[in-house]
Amino acid sequence: MEIDLKIDVKYISMNPIFQRQSVRRYSDIEVTDAQIENILRAAMQAPSACNQQAWEFIVIESDEDKKAISEMHRFAKPAGLASKLIVVLGNLKIAKISSMIEQDLGACCENILLQATWEGLGAVWLGFHPIEDRSLKLKEYLNIPDYCIPFAVICVGYPLKEANPALRYDESKVHFDRY
Ligand SMILES: Cc1cc2nc3c(=O)[nH]c(=O)nc-3n(C[C@H](O)[C@H](O)[C@H](O)COP(=O)(O)O)c2cc1C
Repeated sequence: MEIDLKIDVKYISMNPIFQRQSVRRYSDIEVTDAQIENILRAAMQAPSACNQQAWEFIVIESDEDKKAISEMHRFAKPAGLASKLIVVLGNLKIAKISSMIEQDLGACCENILLQATWEGLGAVWLGFHPIEDRSLKLKEYLNIPDYCIPFAVICVGYPLKEANPALRYDESKVHFDRY
């Protein structure tokens, strides 16, 4: 890992934000129910517009379902290799400000990735919404009702390799007072 000497080393070594990276290959060790519950607790701790918390989740455990999801689009292959999948949904019946639901669900997905890292797991976010053909396949396969957005699938498992995330801070992208 490249070390940026301007930031304290504890921010890199102990902070899941800097330890997280997309993990697409996993060992055979199963993720436990307790780890999934911790991850879902973190997911539901995310901020949301008006505190609407209009998220729901489907945990996928069967090899048959994981394989089917892995074939739904060309970047979905990790789903067939992961121990478990978490499908993140937005429930438009619960939503108070539905126009903000994607932002809420994005925050929710990031919390899932960070908690998975904290648990010593690896995870990757597979994009579905708003790409129509992908979302439709997922919706039909999992019997997701019309009032729910099939937002994303997060694959989780024990990583095959140790994480080695690059640091990305770029001063040129930061503006003070005006653009
Ligand atoms: C909205 C979104 C959709 C993504 N979709 C996929 C995907 O379908 N398949 C995949 O392997 N990775 C997917 N990723 C992961 C990105 O490729 C990854 O986050 C990016 O390359 C940066 O690498 P890092 O996560 O290791 O920092 C997605 C990430 C986001 C935020």
